[in-house]
Amino acid sequence: MHDFKYRHSELYCESVNIARLAKKYGTPLYVYSRKTFLDHYRKLQAAFRDVRPLICYSVKANSNTSILRMLVKEGAGLDIVSGGELYRALRAGASPRKIVYAGVGKTEKEIEYAIRQNSLLFNVESLPELRAIDSVAGRLGKTQACALRINPDVKAKTHKYITTGHKQNKFGIDIATARNIFLNRGQFENLDIAGVHTHIGSQIVDARPFVNAIRKLAGFVRGLEAGGIRVKWFNIGGGLGIIYSGERPQTAQEYARAVLPLLKKLNARIILEPGRFISGNSGVLVTKVIYLKEAPRKNFAIVDAAMNDLIRPSLYGAYHEVLPLKSAPYTTSKKIRNYDVVGPVCESGDFLARNRRFIDLQEGDLLAVMSAGAYGFSMSSVYNSRPRAAEVLVDAGRARLITRRETYSDLVHTER
Ligand SMILES: Cc1ncc(COP(=O)(O)O)c(C=O)c1O
Repeated sequence: MHDFKYRHSELYCESVNIARLAKKYGTPLYVYSRKTFLDHYRKLQAAFRDVRPLICYSVKANSNTSILRMLVKEGAGLDIVSGGELYRALRAGASPRKIVYAGVGKTEKEIEYAIRQNSLLFNVESLPELRAIDSVAGRLGKTQACALRINPDVKAKTHKYITTGHKQNKFGIDIATARNIFLNRGQFENLDIAGVHTHIGSQIVDARPFVNAIRKLAGFVRGLEAGGIRVKWFNIGGGLGIIYSGERPQTAQEYARAVLPLLKKLNARIILEPGRFISGNSGVLVTKVIYLKEAPRKNFAIVDAAMNDLIRPSLYGAYHEVLPLKSAPYTTSKKIRNYDVVGPVCESGDFLARNRRFIDLQEGDLLAVMSAGAYGFSMSSVYNSRPRAAEVLVDAGRARLITRRETYSDLVHTER
């Protein structure tokens, strides 16, 4: 599952002692394993090899340019949702012909940027957006390929903030409207409406919602084809769940086994957009205990990472395992206590973990917040004017700083 393991009671990333990295680069610190990233990418590639999909890693999950470059070198395309992500993708050396662009609020400026760069496909989320892309493409004298993001109205059985394929969500186009668009595609003179796309949510541990959505989409495509409309691209999005604690998510193979029978019947090229599945278990957030505050009702381990570094627990009540970098074996002389692991931010919602048991926890101890590689640094902020953490990538026994720690002057860099 990942390459963060104890050796002689100390936590390692691959063959590198994480405490040494904390000493060298300071905390809070994101530490990533290159091997884990690539293993997950390759697992998905192998599971889907029968349909030779284009795997577009979802940049939002972890947008670091070094990480994007590593996946691009491995052959990945990229799924983007903003002009900023397009900029990162191009900087990382991605071929525009492997870039797909989703998002409900693409601005005219972003649309122009992506068309000028010859992006492969826009995943279009509404009729007004389709008109806007048509108009910009016409002005630029280009024809732009588009896929319609279909909202299949299925329940994804995940947190309500990360379900995206239900009719209550802002994402995608309902099937009836999408059919009308395909039937009237001649109206959009500068577009090649050539594909369908869906993404029903994130951290989905069971293959059934995917099967339901793909079945709906495949039926829709068959109907179009019966009417003589060719669909060249069939994009099934991302959303695969990972293990944070006790989940038993489908493996890449189980997922493929469930959906391949439907995909193999199609004439279209398949696209996947995994984010969390590739990056989630590939990184940890290392933090230091500043104070232990032991109160009559609750004990707090106050650490130097906070909700601005990793917002998932505060935002979704997400669970991340928290492990000491040095694991102390239990002896009767040692104190076992439960602590809430909280940051220094001035919000009661600022916590990384609640009610966790630690053996002999001490001020100054280092902890690893596990499975923090997806939606960790990429969702971080400078709230409370806290400079953002540094990021380190471990590769074959060596660690490389891929983002330096922000400084106080970085905080005011753009202010006038
Ligand atoms: C359109 C789209 N594709 C792919 C993803 C990646 O999802 P995940 O990280 O769950 O695989 C997202 C995440 O929000 C998304 O919005």
